[in-house]
Amino acid sequence: MSQIPVCSPLLSGNELAYVTEAVSTGWISSSGKYVAKFEKAFAAWCGVRHGIAVCNGTVALHLALAALGIGPGDEVIIPDFTMIASAFAVCYTGAKPVFVDAEAATWNMDVALVEEKITLRTKAIMPVHIFGNPCDMASLRHLAGKHNLALLEDAAEAHGAEFAGVKAGALSTIAAFSFFANKNITTGEGGMVVTDDDALAEACRYYKNLCFPLDAPRTYLHADIGFNYRLSNLHAALGLAQVEKADYYRELRIRHGLQYREQLSEIPGLVLQQDQPDGKNVFWMNGLAVRPEEYGRTRDELVAHLAESGVETRLFFNGMHRQSALQKFGCDCSGSYPASDFLADHGFYLPSGSGLRDEDIERVCGVIRVFACTDGR
Ligand SMILES: Cc1ncc(COP(=O)(O)O)c(C=O)c1O
Repeated sequence: MSQIPVCSPLLSGNELAYVTEAVSTGWISSSGKYVAKFEKAFAAWCGVRHGIAVCNGTVALHLALAALGIGPGDEVIIPDFTMIASAFAVCYTGAKPVFVDAEAATWNMDVALVEEKITLRTKAIMPVHIFGNPCDMASLRHLAGKHNLALLEDAAEAHGAEFAGVKAGALSTIAAFSFFANKNITTGEGGMVVTDDDALAEACRYYKNLCFPLDAPRTYLHADIGFNYRLSNLHAALGLAQVEKADYYRELRIRHGLQYREQLSEIPGLVLQQDQPDGKNVFWMNGLAVRPEEYGRTRDELVAHLAESGVETRLFFNGMHRQSALQKFGCDCSGSYPASDFLADHGFYLPSGSGLRDEDIERVCGVIRVFACTDGR
């Protein structure tokens, strides 16, 4: 029985040729032609003018927040149902993340619950396009404008997702992507900040490289505290090759997502993520939540059975309000988050890599269909 991995990268273009070129010319650090080429190509693909490559998505978020001037005493509104990096990046600035429950249908931050979380300390709203499903950015833009808040996208999971025909990364003032190995476009480890704002782009370039002056000779005198968040030319070489085939990789993920949806939607007791109206979901991960009273088995029973059948899965994130790290940091973890709790307790994701074959998806869905116990348990 062959194993179906939860996600493995698809490197089907010029990746090896570009990395080989970088190695053979000795440009293996953060200087070298691939960094600038990758930045330019990815930003253009998103529809924005500036891309600032960094070494992972977590620091891309931190850099974007730092460039916006977020700091101690500030609050940033984020979804409760997200990956921990969204919250940690806010904590690195000294600001506090404030959580908003998920929306039951799209699994994104419930826009209707955002305004009640805004206080005098709120400086920014940071929506996350969960699993590649874009948020309702029209409503969020309206709220940000009304309360004079910065709006930045955590687009780590949403390469090529669209809302109202505009791509993720171009839907807010500044956005951050991850290129971790499981992402729709990958550099192994890597990230990028994208923005149309010249001053923010300049601030990101300055802070990402230890606050070395951007356009002056190096005196080794530093006026501000910066970070070393540079991406290597080796990783950028991978990234450029990936961006060259970005539309292809995006279409593969969408095709797989629609296949899963078609084959799973008729099985009682399985809750699937619904598309954001006016959005284009790029199905980074195909998740589902199990209602045991209808499916006849629990999430954990199904996950164990899939593992025995050679299908690798991952449990969903636990909500931010459940994180003792954030509680210790002084975040308000009280309150109730029923939609986020439901997803954390009943959800998991299925194999979703770009290299999945049709027969892999059929096998996974077949295992799930046959294991259902809907005859009155
Ligand atoms: C929503 C979200 N934000 C941030 C990150 C952090 O990205 P990285 O793992 O590249 O640091 C991830 C990683 O998957 C993510 O899912």
